[in-house]
Amino acid sequence: MDKLVIEGGVKLKGEVVISGAKNSVLPILAATLLTDDACIIKSVPNLRDTNTMFKILRSLGKVVEYDGGVVTVTSGKSINYIADYKLVSTMRASICVLGPLLGRLKKAKVSLPGGCIIGDRPVDLHIKGIRALGADVHIESGYVVAGAKKLKGGHMYLGGVYGSSVLATDNVMMAAVLASGKTVIESAACEPEVADLAEFLIKMGAKIKGHGTPIIEIDGVKHLHGATHTIIPDRIEAGTMMLASLITDGDILVKNVCFRHLGALIDKLEESGAAIIKTDNSLRVRKRKQLRGVTITTLPYPGFETDMQAQMMSLMSVVPGTSLFTGRIYPDRFMHVAELRRMGAQIQREGPHAIVEGEKYLSGAPVMASDLRASACLVLAGLAARGKTSISRIYHLERGYENIEEKLQNLGARVWREKE
Ligand code: UD1
Repeated sequence: MDKLVIEGGVKLKGEVVISGAKNSVLPILAATLLTDDACIIKSVPNLRDTNTMFKILRSLGKVVEYDGGVVTVTSGKSINYIADYKLVSTMRASICVLGPLLGRLKKAKVSLPGGCIIGDRPVDLHIKGIRALGADVHIESGYVVAGAKKLKGGHMYLGGVYGSSVLATDNVMMAAVLASGKTVIESAACEPEVADLAEFLIKMGAKIKGHGTPIIEIDGVKHLHGATHTIIPDRIEAGTMMLASLITDGDILVKNVCFRHLGALIDKLEESGAAIIKTDNSLRVRKRKQLRGVTITTLPYPGFETDMQAQMMSLMSVVPGTSLFTGRIYPDRFMHVAELRRMGAQIQREGPHAIVEGEKYLSGAPVMASDLRASACLVLAGLAARGKTSISRIYHLERGYENIEEKLQNLGARVWREKE
């Protein structure tokens, strides 16, 4: 296993180009199961998670080729309806093959992904949604087993205790596009990645309206065809790089971003004291004045994204004042707190809240990554800290950040990989 070593204290400067969005590409790859025609997906990041999805598609009978960020998915043998535990257990997002398998084959057996370090992650909304399309669904020996003679459009409310669900909305959309009649999803997730999936499905011949809003309407069609699509930029990678600029008192031009997808983060950073200049598809990020602590509540889009909470906490650990974090999507997503404390951060936990008192500086320490975004949080802390930080278990980072070492090195960071 590798660890990442960072010598902190360099002000990062220069340009960085953001890769395609991991959370878009995974369901879009799954959607290729809805046709036998070739699909071409561009701007696909080379990540551990995308490679896992390639393996899942191959295990289900697809031929997947990847070259220079472009994936071509074609049909090999007939499609298998069982997604097995060995693959699914390595990536929770694999649950998004449930909808397309059911839509296409009218049956699906997908291993339940199981627990997760960021908190309980149930699948009740996925099940509620596909039941509303007329499918029988039950859990058997660790699998979600779904089947229907015929899928029929349905009207459903998909809001849960923590709001809407991204992958449940994706799954229902992918099952409903080939159902007969009209489906209405109320309290649908509005995340840009859900809208990107809908755009891909529309290119395949699906009839979808309202994506990107809480009410999505789908008119089922008999058949979908192949399509070519370019994945939207990864807003979480963009946000992480914006914070890399601020936490090192640097000046970075973050290229290939969509401003609209970053509204909540930009607003909080400007409130804190950042100067964010928008030009074409780029954002130049630096300090306008001494940054101050802010109040952050994670919420479904367009609220502040849960996937940026840990990274934002690193930044707030080194700015004057008090910051209050509240997790409304994953109230237990605070595994990074103990590691940040090892570096000198002053953070108190209280239920779904964390209170951060900004310190003058953090000091490098050996720390351990617990999940994808917690790893990014530790990288940011290491970039700002005095001395050397070594982050073990960085395979988490490889799940969601393409070439992160190289990108940071190009900005001047002293970062390298060592064997543990
Ligand atoms: C997606 C993202 C993930 C992000 C999360 C929340 C992908 C591949 N992953 O995950 O990076 O952190 O959205 O923005 O897109 N819930 C239920 N019942 C369900 C499903 C979810 O109660 O059936 C709850 C979850 O526990 C959580 C909230 O709903 O509290 C949102 O989860 P959800 O949007 O489903 O997350 P994912 O789609 O798995």
